[in-house]
Amino acid sequence: MIVVPVKVHPPYDVTIGAGARAGLADVVAAMGEVRQAAVITQTPIVDAGWLEGLDPGVPFDVHLMGEGEAAKSLASLEALCRAFARSGLSRGDVVVALGGGVVSDVAGFAAASYHRGTRYVNVATSLLAQVDAAIGGKTGVNLPEGKNLLGAFFQPVAVLCDTETLSSLPAREWRCGRGEMAKYAFLGDKEPDASLLALDLDQQVERCARIKAAVVAADETESGERMTLNYGHTLAHALEAEGLADAGVDALAHGEAVAVGLVFAALLARRLGRIDDERVELHRRVVAGFDLEARLPGGADPERLLAAMARDKKARHDLTFVLDGPRGVEVVRGVAQSDVVATLAEMGSRT
Ligand SMILES: NC(=O)c1ccc[n+]([C@@H]2O[C@H](COP(=O)([O-])OP(=O)(O)OC[C@H]3O[C@@H](n4cnc5c(N)ncnc54)[C@H](O)[C@@H]3O)[C@@H](O)[C@H]2O)c1
Ligand SMILES: [Zn+2]
Repeated sequence: MIVVPVKVHPPYDVTIGAGARAGLADVVAAMGEVRQAAVITQTPIVDAGWLEGLDPGVPFDVHLMGEGEAAKSLASLEALCRAFARSGLSRGDVVVALGGGVVSDVAGFAAASYHRGTRYVNVATSLLAQVDAAIGGKTGVNLPEGKNLLGAFFQPVAVLCDTETLSSLPAREWRCGRGEMAKYAFLGDKEPDASLLALDLDQQVERCARIKAAVVAADETESGERMTLNYGHTLAHALEAEGLADAGVDALAHGEAVAVGLVFAALLARRLGRIDDERVELHRRVVAGFDLEARLPGGADPERLLAAMARDKKARHDLTFVLDGPRGVEVVRGVAQSDVVATLAEMGSRT
C-alpha cells in the first residue's frame, strides 16, 4: 500500500492501493473506544459488491443515501443525522463514508454536525474522490441557491483509496476523475502534461493525492494557497448549476465541467495579458491529453454563466478567478465582467 500523509492538526494518512478498504478495522481500532459505526453509501456501490466484507471491526448500521448533486442536500443531512440518533450513535463512535465525492461531502458534513463533531473515515470508491474529494476535510451540501453553500472544514481520521473498487466505475465517472487530474497537471512543480496517465493506477492516484495533501497542509481552511485547488472551477460550478437549473443546457458532471473551466481560465488569462498563446495551447493539449472536451456544452449562454459565476461563493465582491500567470496559478480579483463574457464567446460550443 502507498501511504500519503496529510500534515494537518491532527495529521492523518491517505492509504492507496487495491484492497485498501481492508484497513478499515485497523483505523477504527486505533481510534480507541469506538462502540459502533455508521456506514453511509449508495446503491451502485453496494450493487458492485464493495460493501461486502467491509469491516469496521465494531457493530455497524448501513445508511443508503441518494445519488447525484440533488442528494447533496439538507434533506439528506437531516435523514442521516436522524438515523444516527435512532441507532444510538454517540460522539465517540465513527461515521464511515463509502463512496465518491457526494457521499464523502455529505457524510463528512453529517459527521461534522452530529454531536458537534463525530469522527469519520473516508473509504473513497470513485477516481475523483480518491484524487481529490475525500482528502482535505471540505465537507458540505448544496442549497437551491448554489453548490456547496453550506458546509464545514472537518478533517477525516483516515482516507482509504481502494483502487480495486474503481473496476466497477462507469466510464463517465472515469472522465470526471480525469478532469481533476488535468487540474493537478497545472498545480504540480513540473511542466504541465498528461504523462500522469502513463503511470500505473495506484501511482496516478498517489501523485494527485500528494499534491492535494501538500496544498491542504499549507492552508487547511482555504484562506490563500488552497484556493488554487479551485483552478478551472469558477466556470465549472456555473456550468454545473446551469445544467441542473435549465433543461436547455446539456448538464456536465463536475470533472467534465472542470476540463472546460481549465481552458476558459487559460483564455481569460491570455486576455488579461498574464499568459501567451503557447501557454493557452498547452492547456488545450493537456485537457485533450486527458481525453476531455474543452468546448462549452450546447445551449450555454454567456450572460447566464456570468450571473452564475457572480453568485459563486468564491466571488466576494467582484469577479474572482484562479488564473495562470508568470508566477504560476494564483487568485486574481477584480476581473471585469466584459472580459469574462468576451472569453466565453471565444470558447466555442459543442452544438
Ligand atoms: N470536498 C472536496 O474537496 C471536493 C473536491 C472535489 C469534488 N467534490 C465534490 O464531489 C462530488 C463529485 O464526486 P464524484 O465524482 O465521486 O461523484 P459521485 O460521488 O456522485 O459518484 C458518481 C457515481 O458513481 C457511483 N460510484 C462511486 N463509486 C463507484 C464504484 N466504485 N463503482 C460503481 N459506481 C460507483 C456513485 O454511486 C455515483 O452514482 C461533487 O459534488 C463535488 O462537488 C468535493
Ligand atoms: Zn473539483
